[in-house]
Amino acid sequence: MQIEVPRADPQSVRLLQLSRRVNDIPRQSAILGLDESGLPLILRLSSPEVAHVLIAGTTGSGKTALARSMALSLAMHNRLGEVQMLFIDPKRNGFVPFVKPGGGGGLPHLLRPVVDNVHQAVFLLGEMVTEMVRRDHQNITEPRLIIFIDEVADLMEQGGKAMDRLMTRLTQRGRSAGLHIVACTQKPLAATIGSLTRSNFPVRLVGSVASSDDARTAAGIGGTGAEKLLGRGDFLLVAKGQTTRFQAAYVSQAEIKQVVEQLQTRHRTSRHWLESTQAEEPQQLAPTGTDGQIAQPAPRRRKGLGMMFGHQLRLIK
Ligand SMILES: Nc1ncnc2c1ncn2[C@@H]1O[C@H](COP(=O)(O)OP(=O)(O)OP(=O)(O)O)[C@@H](O)[C@H]1O
Ligand SMILES: [Mg+2]
Repeated sequence: MQIEVPRADPQSVRLLQLSRRVNDIPRQSAILGLDESGLPLILRLSSPEVAHVLIAGTTGSGKTALARSMALSLAMHNRLGEVQMLFIDPKRNGFVPFVKPGGGGGLPHLLRPVVDNVHQAVFLLGEMVTEMVRRDHQNITEPRLIIFIDEVADLMEQGGKAMDRLMTRLTQRGRSAGLHIVACTQKPLAATIGSLTRSNFPVRLVGSVASSDDARTAAGIGGTGAEKLLGRGDFLLVAKGQTTRFQAAYVSQAEIKQVVEQLQTRHRTSRHWLESTQAEEPQQLAPTGTDGQIAQPAPRRRKGLGMMFGHQLRLIK
């Protein structure tokens, strides 16, 4: 018999608090939230087993909020030479806080302005395919480029064959060139993304869904029990046939703006996120990608972090 105990206060997992707790997070890793034993759950995007991530669930399950937390945690703990990001946000409510009103400034890790329509999305993904081919030839994998796509099923419907081809190429061959897709979808997936999702998104983050059929499509395997999830950040991580339940970390739009401002003015010297009152020594950063250039990788600093910190956090890699 299985007893489900709802969490008393699901709002209590705050990304900024969690970020301070995670002492030294491995590079190119996103904070997902807290697992059922209270350990921070971390996803290493650069791992061969991770590659691309599909976040699926009904409206209100917390997909966009989770993608935001992943993006912000990547920015807080990685330099521009390690991670840069792109956002496709058709609803314009998910990733817009990462950019200042009027388009000036914004997250330093943003490689291109936030894209909100299907034509721009097709153009942007086309550029990324070109970049993938360039990197393949030159054997480059860094900085990792993380492409966040909200409402991916809608985009695939509107974008037709062109969109389909681009998504297929990127999910099939992107990882080895350091390109990763994190895509959110609300729609039952079978009809819209179909064969694409089955093989090309090895990691699924599944929020509440309406039925066990939807759960199976979203998770890629049956029997996960995702239809019993509570919504608002109650998620299952499904990878390598195993499931891990977690409460997603939450960050408010006001907090995002605050962190983006801090990132603009302060240079990062450590992967540990510090309070704004603590001064940090400025350090030479890798060239930024904001002028349209894709930055060269910064030198690698540490090795084997995943193993060292395995007992303080739960690292999916
Ligand atoms: N991790 C979380 N902790 C607490 N509350 C959350 C969390 N995630 C989401 N919520 C709450 O649920 C609401 C809906 O979340 P969100 O917009 O991310 O859902 P969604 O799955 O993207 O929905 P849609 O498919 O309609 O876009 C948020 O406004 C917030 O109030
Ligand atoms: Mg959403």
